[in-house]
Formats: sequence, C-alpha cells, structure tokens
Amino acid sequence: MTTPICDFVQKYIFENPLRLHMPGHKGRDIFGTPLSAAYPYDITEIKGADSLFEASGIIAESEKNAASLFHTAETVYSAGGSTLCIQAMLDMVCGAGGRVAAVRNCHRAFVNAAALLDLDVLWVYPEYEGGSLLSGRVTVEMAENAILSGEKPDCFYMTSPDYLGKIYDVRGIAEVCHKHGVPLIVDNAHGAHLAFLSENIHPIALGADLCCDSGHKMLPVLTGGAYLHIGNPKFAGMAKAAMSRYGSTSPSYLILQSLDMCNKYLSEGGIKQIRSAANMLNCLKKELSAVYRIEETEPLRMTVSALECGLYGHQLADILRESGIECEYADETHVVLLFSPVFGKAEIDRLKAAMKSVRMPRILLQSPKYEGYAPKKAMSIRQAAFAPSENISVDDAEGKICSGVRTACPPGVAVIVSGEVIDKETIKILKRYSIFDVNVVK
Ligand SMILES: Cc1ncc(COP(=O)(O)O)c(C=O)c1O
Repeated sequence: MTTPICDFVQKYIFENPLRLHMPGHKGRDIFGTPLSAAYPYDITEIKGADSLFEASGIIAESEKNAASLFHTAETVYSAGGSTLCIQAMLDMVCGAGGRVAAVRNCHRAFVNAAALLDLDVLWVYPEYEGGSLLSGRVTVEMAENAILSGEKPDCFYMTSPDYLGKIYDVRGIAEVCHKHGVPLIVDNAHGAHLAFLSENIHPIALGADLCCDSGHKMLPVLTGGAYLHIGNPKFAGMAKAAMSRYGSTSPSYLILQSLDMCNKYLSEGGIKQIRSAANMLNCLKKELSAVYRIEETEPLRMTVSALECGLYGHQLADILRESGIECEYADETHVVLLFSPVFGKAEIDRLKAAMKSVRMPRILLQSPKYEGYAPKKAMSIRQAAFAPSENISVDDAEGKICSGVRTACPPGVAVIVSGEVIDKETIKILKRYSIFDVNVVK
C-alpha cells in the first residue's frame, strides 16, 4: 500500500531546502534530545503537503487507503485523538442544541462535546456488572426504549469496547436504531484492530453510521492519531468541516505520517500480527483463568477482576509493577492490561511469569454495587459547565449542582456530569474513584 505522506516528507528532507516556514525548530533539534531524528519530519502545510481539513492531495490519498483497509464509505484522520472525532461526529449528526440518547459509561470527551454543542442528553444507564461503573449490560430493548421514550433523538451514542474491554451488541443496536431512523455513533476508541480479526467486528461492519478509533490506543500509531470512519454515505463529505471547528490548524505531521505508515503496516503483515497476538493472548487467558477471574473482553485486552482473587486492583497492579509490568489501568475492582500486535511470545511469557508469581490471599472482598445509580439533572450540561463555579471538597458538596468534576483519565468515565445534583451516593462513589474535590455551580 502507498505511503504518500511519508514519501513526500522523505523527499522534502532529501532535497534539503532552506526552511523559511514553520515550525520554528526548522527541522533541527537544537537541544540534542533523544528526539533529534524526529525533528526533520515535523513539517507543516507547505506546498505539496496538503492540509488536513481541506485534504485533496497526499492526505486525501492516504485517507483513501485507510478507508479501503477499514471497509468504510469514508475515513478521515485526526491528529487530536478520538476526542476531536467525537466532537466532529456529534456536530455532524446532531448540530448545536441537538438531542442524543447516550449510554452513560462514555468517555468525558463526549460530555465535553455535549457542553460545547449544548446537547440535550438522555442517559441510558447500563446494568452495571462486576462492581464497576465502567462497564455493564446494554440490551437492544434498552436502546429501543430510550429512542421511543420522548422526542426522537438525533442519534444514539455508545462506547464499544468499553474501558474494561467489553464489546456490546452493536449489530443489534444498529438495527433497532435504523428501524426508527436514528443514526448510531459508536466510540470505538479502543477497537481499531477489530476490523482485522478473522471475523470483522468493527462497528462500521456491524452497522454503525459513524465511529471513531484511536489508532494510537491499539495500533502502532503515535499518540493523538485517530480515525473518524463513516459507514453511512449520507454523512460522507461532512467530517472535515466539522473537525476544523474544533481541531488545531497545525495538526502534527508526525502523527499523520504514523497513520500513513500504519496503512502499509496493516496491508503488509500487520493484520496477521493482530490475529497472532489475539490468539496468543487468548491462550494465556485460558491458562490463567484457572487462577484468576478474567473478564470476557475484546481479544487484545486482558481485564482481571482482581477483587474476585482477594486483591484490590491497585494492589495487583503494584505487585505486577514490582515484576516490571506496567498496566493500562487499575482501580478498586479491576486491572486492565493492553496487548498489541507489536508484541509476541516474549511479552506473553513475561506476563505469564509475573501473573503466576502473584500470591493471592483469597479473602472475600465485597464488590461495590451501582444498581439504580442515576444522578438527578438540575440544568443542562452546557449551562452548568459554563456557569460561574467554585471548587469545594466533595464532603461539602451534597445538594450542590456539579459544574465539572475531575475525571481521572484513564478511564475518563464521569461519575457525575455537569448539571447534575451531587447526593450522598455520588460523594461515596467519587471518593471510591479517589476524587476528593469538585467544581460546583455558585
Ligand atoms: C472510550 C474512550 N473514548 C474516547 C477517548 C478519547 O480518545 P483520545 O485520547 O484518542 O482523544 C478515550 C481515551 O482514553 C477513551 O477511553
């Protein structure tokens, strides 16, 4: 597969012109850092380099390559992560002041976009499972009830895989959305690789109208590199204008080159590596499940329900850290370990040895319960997010309206969103997620 962006930059470096254009480092690392080799590649929109939000040259060509790999009607790049894609998707489908039915275990990028666009959000609360607010069950029936519960939403929004790696019934939910003429947007930030498994279970293949993938999360792409995929041709040609409303006008060409190179990687062996990594991790999960409670997740992730092994998640993460293993995320209940196609047997063996050396106390630890947790709304997300506010201790916050809350990222899933009333339960949960202060509306 061609790499037009990389080829252009390579040629430019070879020609060695006097760089009388941005960026100010002029391709030279005057600090002599380990990043020296990257500086010459960090270019900007010079002649021939195309322009991300008005792409018609090398970027457009590279995006077409990605669209053919992901089997989409259109794919556009983001150098601002899935965060920018989420803003753009909601802008395209709902516009300002629109209405969206959204599954609650969404990333804060959604809540921030809702504040920017003044969206009216109808929350669909999952049936929380495994003692975590990050994951739960959402049925087709729950989605249909939400769609029919009032004024028709402009879209249905869900996250799959969720932060713990659980995959939802995107196909079933897409069918019910389309039955009622409602587009489905999926936050697939954690699932770019799902298009390349032996069965394509990427949201676009399952019927989503739009989705975002953080290439940087699960594929060998630099941080910030993401895809906005369009499945429904009705939305083709709209993404660039929407993205340009929120993204920097100076997107990183380093990120764009890594997205460009990833196309070549996928078409020349990367897909095989994804499948092989998934198989290896699957075998390890089977072996470890004799000792650990391993959650059912997407194939490149291992989520351990630590509490069920008699350990808190952060304790298990600390033990693994002593063996030189750094996890993606740990909280009271779970530890999330992310695998990758760039890993092979050596990494599997290292993880296996570390996991097998953990001594588990096997005491019964109580899982938190979140059934019925649904904070009351007092004002819109936008009103509360932009209202004059003050930062107070969560202990003093009962009865106050949340303006904004620090949502640790990862996992970036909001315990309470702007405009909702903080009650005793919220305070307990915030503390459980180690959040001790909150911004409230003055
Ligand atoms: C589920 C989910 N959606 C969206 C995002 C935002 O993605 P990005 O960091 O690529 O902007 C994240 C980031 O962690 C995420 O976990």
